[in-house]
Amino acid sequence: MNYLTIDDAAAWASRFTKKKVTSSNISYLIQYGRIKKHSKSGTTVVSQEELKQYYTSYMNDLQSKFTEKLGEDINWSLAFHKVKEKETTKHVHRLHPYKGKFIPQLVEYFLDQHTDGFKKEVFFQPGDIVLDPFCGSGTTLVQANELGIHSIGIDVSVFNCLMTKTKLAEYNLRSVSEWAKRIEQAIVKQSTMSKVDEFDSRLNDFISSLNKEHFPSPDYKYNLAQGLINEEDYVPEVMAQVNDQYEKLLQEYNFEVHGEVTQSSFEAQRGVTQSAFLNTWFADNVLQEALAAKDVLEDMPSEEEKELLMLILSRTLRSCRTTPHYELERLNTPVSGPYYCYKHMKVCRPVLSMLRMYRRYAKDTIKRLKEFNELRTAGCFSVLAGDAREIDIFSEVSKNNQGLFRLLKDKKIQGIFTSPPYLGQLNYHEQHQYAYEFFGLKSHEDLEIGIADQGKGLQARKDYIEGVSDVLLNCSRFLADDCPYFCRSQ
Ligand SMILES: C[S@@+](CC[C@H](N)C(=O)[O-])C[C@H]1O[C@@H](n2cnc3c(N)ncnc32)[C@H](O)[C@@H]1O
Repeated sequence: MNYLTIDDAAAWASRFTKKKVTSSNISYLIQYGRIKKHSKSGTTVVSQEELKQYYTSYMNDLQSKFTEKLGEDINWSLAFHKVKEKETTKHVHRLHPYKGKFIPQLVEYFLDQHTDGFKKEVFFQPGDIVLDPFCGSGTTLVQANELGIHSIGIDVSVFNCLMTKTKLAEYNLRSVSEWAKRIEQAIVKQSTMSKVDEFDSRLNDFISSLNKEHFPSPDYKYNLAQGLINEEDYVPEVMAQVNDQYEKLLQEYNFEVHGEVTQSSFEAQRGVTQSAFLNTWFADNVLQEALAAKDVLEDMPSEEEKELLMLILSRTLRSCRTTPHYELERLNTPVSGPYYCYKHMKVCRPVLSMLRMYRRYAKDTIKRLKEFNELRTAGCFSVLAGDAREIDIFSEVSKNNQGLFRLLKDKKIQGIFTSPPYLGQLNYHEQHQYAYEFFGLKSHEDLEIGIADQGKGLQARKDYIEGVSDVLLNCSRFLADDCPYFCRSQ
C-alpha cells in the first residue's frame, strides 16, 4: 500500500480532483473518520488507495445526484461546484448566515467584462447601474461594487436589507473596534455576575473527559464510518450516564438553564418584547448578556456603526440558541443539557454564555471588512426596504443616496440581476426570527412572494408567477431601453 504524508496527500488529491485540496482538508477527512490515520516513523500518513476511493465516490455522488434531478443538459462550468467554500464565503459574504444565497462567482461571471463560449457578450460596464429587486443578503451589490458597477437592492425583509447595507457601508474601523470592546465588557460583567463562567468551565472539563473516554477522535469516527459501531445502540447508553452527571452538576451550582429570569421586568426595561421564542430558544444567561450588550448599542451615536454591531450580535445570538449544532439551520426541539451531536460525533452542549462566540464574530467581522476595503471601488449603492412589486425606486433612492439618484435620473438602470425567492421552500423572515424578536424589527412576512407556508400547490404557483411578474413590471419603469434581465429560475 502506498502511504502519503498530509502535505503529499493534499498535493495528490489536488491533481486527482483538479481542484485545490489543502492539508487542512485532508486533516478534516481524518478527523471526521472518512479516511484512516496511520503512522510511519512517528509521522502521520494516509493511504493513497483509501484517498482515491473517497474522492471517486464523492465526485460520482455529486454529479449523479444533479444529473438525476436535472437531466443531462447541465452546464457544469456554471455550477461552480469546484469553487471552495472559502471562496464562496469570501470577505463580507460571510458576515452573517443566510439561506438561499447566490454564489458570488456566478454573479461575477455575468457582471464582469469577460466573454467565453457560453457568455458571448458583455452585459455591464463599470459606471452602469444594476438592480437586484430580491437582493437578500446583498451578493449582487457586493460583486457589482468590486467591478465598479453602481447598484440598487430591494428586499421586503428589513433584516436582509440591514445585512446588505452593513456589507457595503464604509466604516471607521477604529471606532467600530472600540464599541465592539465596550459591548464585550458589558457581556463579561454580566457573565461574571451570574457565575456562568465557573459553571461553564466545570461543564467543559466534564464533557471533554467523557468524550475522550467514549468518543475518542478520530478512532470513534473512523469506526462509525466503517460500520464497526452501531450509533443507535451505543449513544443512548452513554447519554444516560451523561445526563445523570449533568443533573448533579446543576444541583451543585443551583443553576437553571431555562429559569424565571427571562420573564422578569428586566426585559421590558431594555425595550425587548417578552417573547415565547426568545424564552424557548435562549438560555437565561445568554439572553441577559445580550440585553446588557443591547444597552450599549443604545448609546452609539452612529446609526451605521450601530447596525454593524447589531449584525455581529445577531450572528452571535444565532449560534447561541439552545439547539443542537446540526439543527442550527432549522430549529426542531430546544435542548438545555448535553446532547450527542451527529455533526461532530461526540457529546456537545448548549451555549450558556455568548462571550466566546461574540469575541470570535466581532474579530472576524472586522477582518472581513478590512479584506473588502482592499477590493472596494467607488461604485455607489442604495438598499431599499420594501415590496418590489410596488416600490418607487426613483423616489426611494432620492431619500438615501443623492449622488446615485442623480445618476439614476440621468441614465436609468442598465440591467437586472436577481434570484427570486424559492417557491414554497423558505420563509425569509423566519430564518432570522431571533433578530426580529430581539431587536424588535418590523416583519413584513405577509408580503413575501412564494413563502414556504403557502406551499407549492396550484394556487401558490399562480400567485408566485404573478408576484415575480409584477416585480419585473414595476422595475421595468426604471430601466434603460434594451437592458438585460438575469433571473435564476426555479
Ligand atoms: C433567493 S433570495 C435572494 C438571495 C440573494 N440573491 C443573495 O445572494 O443573498 C430572495 C429574496 O427575495 C425577498 N423577497 C420576497 N418577496 C419579496 C418582495 N415582495 N419584494 C422584495 N423582496 C422580496 C426575500 O426576502 C429574499 O431575501
